[in-house]
This record gives sequence, C-alpha cells and structure tokens, in this order.
Amino acid sequence: MSDKNIIRIGMVGYGFMGRTHSNAYNRLANFFPDLKFRPVLKAVCARNKERVQAFADQWGYESIETDWRKLIARDDIDAIDICTPNNMHAEIAIAAAEAGKMVLCEKPLARTVAEAQPMVDAVEKAGVKNTVWYNYRRVPAVTLAKNLIDAGKLGRIFHYRANFLQDWTISPDVPQGGESTWRLDNDAAGSGVTGDLLAHCIDTAMWLNGGIKDVSAVTETFVKERVHTGTGEVQKVGIDDACIFHCHFDNGSLGVFESTRYARGHKAAKTFEINGEHASIRWDLHDLNRLEYFDHRDESMERGWRSIHVTDGDHPYMDKWWVPGLSVGYEHTFIHQAADFFKSLEDDSVCSPTFKEAQETQKVCEAVLDSAKDRQWKDTGVNW
Ligand SMILES: NC(=O)c1ccc[n+]([C@@H]2O[C@H](COP(=O)([O-])OP(=O)(O)OC[C@H]3O[C@@H](n4cnc5c(N)ncnc54)[C@H](O)[C@@H]3O)[C@@H](O)[C@H]2O)c1
Repeated sequence: MSDKNIIRIGMVGYGFMGRTHSNAYNRLANFFPDLKFRPVLKAVCARNKERVQAFADQWGYESIETDWRKLIARDDIDAIDICTPNNMHAEIAIAAAEAGKMVLCEKPLARTVAEAQPMVDAVEKAGVKNTVWYNYRRVPAVTLAKNLIDAGKLGRIFHYRANFLQDWTISPDVPQGGESTWRLDNDAAGSGVTGDLLAHCIDTAMWLNGGIKDVSAVTETFVKERVHTGTGEVQKVGIDDACIFHCHFDNGSLGVFESTRYARGHKAAKTFEINGEHASIRWDLHDLNRLEYFDHRDESMERGWRSIHVTDGDHPYMDKWWVPGLSVGYEHTFIHQAADFFKSLEDDSVCSPTFKEAQETQKVCEAVLDSAKDRQWKDTGVNW
C-alpha cells in the first residue's frame, strides 16, 4: 500500500473515548480490508506525559504530545481526533481545520450553538473532511431500523419515544469537575444530561424520523451543590440532572424524550420506540443486537412483536464480522463509524453526521434548555 493511502491520526485525549477510537482504528485493517485508506496511529496527546506515554505504548501510537497545539502543528498528522471534554472541542477543532487537517470530533459538537457555529464555519471554509461521533447510528439494529423506515415499512409515523437513563450521580458525594466527573461541571460540559445523553437520542431521532420543529421541556437539578475538584470548595451545580421534553417533528409526529442520571437500577438504558400506521419498532441498548418489530399487515393469527436478531450476513455491517447468529457489541459502533469515515475519503462523500448536521442536534439541545428555563415552547430552528 502506498503512503498516500495512509491517514496519520493525531488523537487528543486518552480517556473512555480515546480507547474506543484507538480500538476502532486498530481493527479497521483486519475487518474492513477493502478500504482504500487506512489509519496509522501517529500520535496521542494529553497533558500528563507519563500517562499519555503509557497509553501510547498500550494502544500502539508512534509518538506523544502534551500540548494539542504542537500536535496540530505537526506536518506528519493528517487527521485530528478530538476525545476531550466538551469545553475543549471548539478550540481544537477550529485550529485543526485552519491547519488543513481532517477533524473527527466527539459529541456533543460543542457546549452551545454559538460555540459550534465557528467550528462548522472553520471546517467548511477549509474544505476538510469532518464527522461527529454519534456512534449509535452505527449499531447494526439501529441502521436496520433506518432502512425499514426509509423503505416505508412503518407508513406514516405518529409517535417517537426515547429514553437514556443512568443512576451514577445520585450520591451527593460525587464531585463536580476533574477527571471523569467533568460531566457534572457546567463549564466543562455545557449542560448535564441534555448535552451528554439526550444529544445522542436527538441525533438518532432526527436521523430516523426527520427534523424536530419545536420543544417543551422540564429539567431538574436534584443535588444543588457539590464539591468542585478544581477548587476543593462546595459550589452550586449548574447542570441539569434530569430532562424530559416533548416535541413536534417536521413530519407531524409527536416525540417524548426522557433522560436522567437518577434512575436507580439503570446504567445505560438507551431505548427508542417508533409507532407508525402499519408497523412499530423498538430498540434497547442493553440488548443491542435485537430489533423488535410489529407489523399490523401480518396475517392476524400470526401477528405479534417479532424479535429480529440482527446478526445475519445481509444485515447492516454484519458481513464484516463473524457468522450469522454471533453478536457484536458497543465497540463495533465506533469501528463502523471509522470505516464509514474512511470510505467517505475514498468516495469523496460525507460521513454523517458532519459538523453541520451535528449543529442541528445542538440547536435542539439548546431549545430544550431554553424551554425548561423559560417554561415555554421553543422553536428549534432546525433545518434537517
Ligand atoms: N460517542 C459516545 O458515545 C461518547 C461516550 C462518552 C463520551 N463521549 C464524549 O467524548 C468526549 C470525551 O469523553 P470521555 O468520556 O472520553 O472523557 P474522559 O474524561 O474519559 O477523557 C477525557 C480526556 O481528555 C483529556 N484532556 C482534558 N483536557 C485536555 C487538554 N487540555 N489537552 C489534552 N487532553 C486533555 C484527559 O486527559 C482525558 O484523557 C466528551 O466530549 C464526551 O461527551 C462520547
């Protein structure tokens, strides 16, 4: 393979997402051998030299940096992959685009619509390839849901219901700020469950069911003060711990969304159900290889919910994996997105969601937070 077919990755951040992305790049050549381009793990960047070196050794990066600006300045890096907390996305992405690098950015694109706009402008002005890791689109069962909807199997859609429930911040002893608990710090995260969890649900929903027109939301912060790891002081909590909103989609259907980190017993209960005039579908992350499907047009004696084990060779992405009946997992969603990104380089197409598309999800998140604050319906301004 010639050098021009190698895309040299520079990744910023080596936490949870740093691992999923590194795993994805490492698996591509094995499972997607037909791709023209392939990644090389050129450098990983984070502030702590010893720890980032240990990560580089573990995952096979050739070199390290401790300043993301130096990473971007290197001429042996083609693509910057942003796996840092949300407050770092904009600065890094804009600098990377201005340096002519491709940019892969973790979700949410930014903390606010205003912060995301110059990111969209920067990648468009520079004409660089870009994508945002809304990886749940690439669960084979979720992609199958999209194919069924696009084929008209459900008919007119009336209802869209989505949840994303967790239970890890119930204790008031969980601090805000710092490693892994930056999600509770509004400055770092931009919001709570809305930008963290509902952003995923909103991206999936608009991909499956079209634009969200307007929203009415309620949010709650159950634990109002927490110790901040940065200052050591007890400080007011600025994030939303829970959020419930309902909405109209552009296609006239109604949506109901709920997310919380206070649903005891739920770790990552991401679900959706869609009800159409002919058929309904539902999906649950805890059983991610299955898609539940009900078709009213079935013969009445046999009609009922069927559970499709999405593991056959003709199911989305599944020809790349094992044999029919054998499952894939969470990590595969990132491998699939990486594969789609590399395929987009080959086809000169886009790898959805682009920054511009992810900005639409940002608009819904912001309308949701505004609605909860003002206790009013808000138009999202989404153009899907
Ligand atoms: N797609 C998904 O399903 C998914 C899941 C989890 C997180 N995320 C997103 O991924 C991003 C990272 O989340 P995470 O869970 O991996 O966080 P994490 O806390 O596990 O890791 C964050 C990393 O960023 C590094 N970092 C922080 N500031 C830095 C700086 N100034 N320079 C260089 N490195 C810096 C930290 O050292 C750490 O390695 C967030 O935007 C989050 O919303 C997406």
